[in-house]
Amino acid sequence: MSVRRLAEASVQPASFAFNEANSEEVSKWLAKYPKGREQSAIIPLLMIAQDQEGWVSKPAIERIADMLGMPYIRALEVATFYTQYQLKPVGTRAHVQVCGTTPCMLRGAGALIDTCKSKIHHEQFHTNADGTLSWEEVECLGACVNAPMVMIFKDTYEDLTPARLAEIIKTRPRCSTTCATGRNTAARPSRLLRQRQQARPPQRPCRHRRRQSRRPTLPKRTRPPSHRPR
Ligand code: FES
Repeated sequence: MSVRRLAEASVQPASFAFNEANSEEVSKWLAKYPKGREQSAIIPLLMIAQDQEGWVSKPAIERIADMLGMPYIRALEVATFYTQYQLKPVGTRAHVQVCGTTPCMLRGAGALIDTCKSKIHHEQFHTNADGTLSWEEVECLGACVNAPMVMIFKDTYEDLTPARLAEIIKTRPRCSTTCATGRNTAARPSRLLRQRQQARPPQRPCRHRRRQSRRPTLPKRTRPPSHRPR
């Protein structure tokens, strides 16, 4: 795992502002927290900024810190702690995060890293010649049971072999959405979830409903007229 630092000044934009759609999204997130606790929205706000720009720049971190009334250093601590935030421009088609923690390493993560080196760039955090691909090694991504695995933006790919990873790198399409980088997968279920949904057999009605459907429908009982004593 490498030291996480902000990108060099030469690639930082002069300023940052949320676009109209994302400003609405930010307001929705802020409304979820009680008054005085808005700083807790730092994680989703940084994620919205990343979805908009493709990475989290210094002006974006400072703008969000200002919005939440927190010191820049605290916002910077969050942005540099989590590997979900990209602190410099990454590949627009795929940024491959290879898990390099022990279970994945024992199951062949080293070979996946070699694949990234040969197919993308020999050093992590460097894009390929046309800027569409990049890679990095990260800590456990929580899918150890299917090691080795990688994450590409918000999709996970598990039980990988070097050949399968090479195929994914070659064929993974650029997402066709409207964000600056053409990459915004927030609205889609993850690839794993989609695969599970497709593989799921057609659901049978539960036992109770099956029994109900076999039961003959009886005519509705009508209440006899009441005979009140006069
Ligand atoms: S060790 Fe790789 S996902 Fe946990």
